Amino acid sequence: MIKPLRKAVLPVAGLGTRFLPATKATAKEMLPVVDKPLIQYAIEEARAAGIEQFCMVTGRGKTALVEHFDIAFELESTLRERGKTEALDVLRALAVPAGSIVTVRQQEPLGLGHAIWCARAFIGEDPFAILLPDDLVLSDTPCLKQLADAYLETGGNVVAVTEVPPDQTNRYGILKVGHDGGRLVEVTGLVEKPAPADAPSNLSIIGRYVLLPGVLRHLARLERGAGNEVQLTDAMARMIGEAPFHGLRFEGRRFDCGDKVGFLEAQIAFALKRPEMAPAVRAFLKSYV
Ligand code: UTP
Repeated sequence: MIKPLRKAVLPVAGLGTRFLPATKATAKEMLPVVDKPLIQYAIEEARAAGIEQFCMVTGRGKTALVEHFDIAFELESTLRERGKTEALDVLRALAVPAGSIVTVRQQEPLGLGHAIWCARAFIGEDPFAILLPDDLVLSDTPCLKQLADAYLETGGNVVAVTEVPPDQTNRYGILKVGHDGGRLVEVTGLVEKPAPADAPSNLSIIGRYVLLPGVLRHLARLERGAGNEVQLTDAMARMIGEAPFHGLRFEGRRFDCGDKVGFLEAQIAFALKRPEMAPAVRAFLKSYV
């Protein structure tokens, strides 16, 4: 029986070194794309995939990420007094059910695998999603919903994948592919940040996963991998053979918002999707470039 997917872990304890100085005193996941912080896109995407319980893995200086989902009574009453109904609606759209967000602390950023291991009590014996909020996906169907649907088809572990330029495999977790069905590919191996010459393919994992709780057993070894960090990819690689493992070529486009150029691309792409601002942005780009 395939257990329903109701939980998501959002690791947000990284240092964001690629985005300094912006991330010195502000969490990377609070950076806005157009007008919404990255963390809000991630929570909205998870809710659209049927997720009901969220666990943010936070670290020092990350309190704003949790406060963003609080009810701001004073702000709301001021907006009400001033008749700012549109702004009030924007705040109301943010509301999540009481008690649905929990946080755990990662005291030291020892790697993504370590961050997920920090959420072990929340995960328990259930399948769970992972969303890395700095990976933003522009798609017709929310990316995690596509993964959740694939999980219902295949069971087991499912990760979202995309082709990357072959000379950039050393920036990503890369798949070794068995049967390639086009949309779904069978995963027979995983390597974190392989040099292009050693890469088994150019299919890269992006920041959306559906995993079985068995990954925690492998993470518990807390073995260091690439970059001397506890790598999620290494623990996932150990699950191959234990349960089905698939990559999903999702519909949509991924933007790496932890990277300055990726972040700027996301601003433009998301602004062009907004009817109220698209004409002005398009006109500016045409005249400026
Ligand atoms: P990144 O690989 O983007 O690392 O993490 P980072 O530290 O945030 O950024 P750079 O590379 O230094 O610029 C991917 C996701 O995993 C989280 C990050 O917050 C981000 O959402 N993460 C990473 C943790 O929560 N803990 C860690 O120890 C490492």
